[in-house]
Amino acid sequence: VRMHDFIQNLPKAELHVHLEGTLEPELSFALATRNGVKLAHDTPEALVAAYDFHDLPSFLAIYYKAMEVLVHEADFYEMTYAYLTKARSQNVLYCEMFFDPQAHTSRGVAFDTVIRGIRRAQLQAADELGIESQLVMCFLRDMSADSAMQTLLASLPYKSWIIGVGLDSDEKHNPPIKFAEVFARARTEGYKLTMHCDVNQLDTLVHIRQVLDVIGVDRIDHGINSLEDSAICAEIARRGLGLTICPVSNRFVVQNLTGDEIRRMLALGMKATVNSDDPAYFRAYLNENLAALVDDAGFTEAEIRQLLRNAFDVSWLPAPRREHYL
Ligand code: HPA
Ligand code: ZN
Repeated sequence: VRMHDFIQNLPKAELHVHLEGTLEPELSFALATRNGVKLAHDTPEALVAAYDFHDLPSFLAIYYKAMEVLVHEADFYEMTYAYLTKARSQNVLYCEMFFDPQAHTSRGVAFDTVIRGIRRAQLQAADELGIESQLVMCFLRDMSADSAMQTLLASLPYKSWIIGVGLDSDEKHNPPIKFAEVFARARTEGYKLTMHCDVNQLDTLVHIRQVLDVIGVDRIDHGINSLEDSAICAEIARRGLGLTICPVSNRFVVQNLTGDEIRRMLALGMKATVNSDDPAYFRAYLNENLAALVDDAGFTEAEIRQLLRNAFDVSWLPAPRREHYL
């Protein structure tokens, strides 16, 4: 109990959360009814009971199906405001949130509809709840580089609402270099760069090398397998690159909380952070991820403090805001 109070009370930042992964079953049902969309199950409980993830593809199939209830600006607003309310209740003061525009534009929902709803929630939450947030636009790596480029161009009128770009979805046979041109253009447009290097993927070390040497990322999402190569570890530490680790997500997709890996990163001076990834699906927001490390991997107060300090430290806040939190 004492450690759980300690976790609750610490000011926190979250850097790896997919907004579409915060869509709670109850809101899914409300939106399905409102929008006349048919869900595969009859109750929120039945929907949760069907959450059967054992790897990345089995998670992604359920995640993309469920987001079909998101149609109108108000839907994106409500999802985002609900997440920010929940995060603030856990004493999260700052978050960087991913969104997947192609998962919506490919269904006929306009980019403008998606981003306006999200933006309105961010402004209102900053004002009314006192939680600061920034948006990171992800490209779906199992779609074409051409589609990613179209999405990048569509985002340019909203550039001041987006701090950076990322890469998510199915990593198998979709290496970082597939998007080299898109990310080079994103950089010239002033966006920060990150990419998912998911856990235990095919060619994982090749992919991590590409994000470091070809893409030139400012951060790495997951990146657990970098531990397999000491030169890669040394380089990540030397560049001060943040790694956004998602313990409970990892427990679902690779059956491992990756507590040992997080500890090894800290020992090597790598800036590991803890995050929730898709909290509505993995049924764990940031506090529950930290509690899992304490309860199931024996993390100490000092280790938890270091992980949270790292998150503010590698965040994409302007320096004065970052120092305010540090
Ligand atoms: N990995 C890849 N793509 C994703 C994830 C993830 O954990 N969550 C949402 N899209
Ligand atoms: Zn993710």
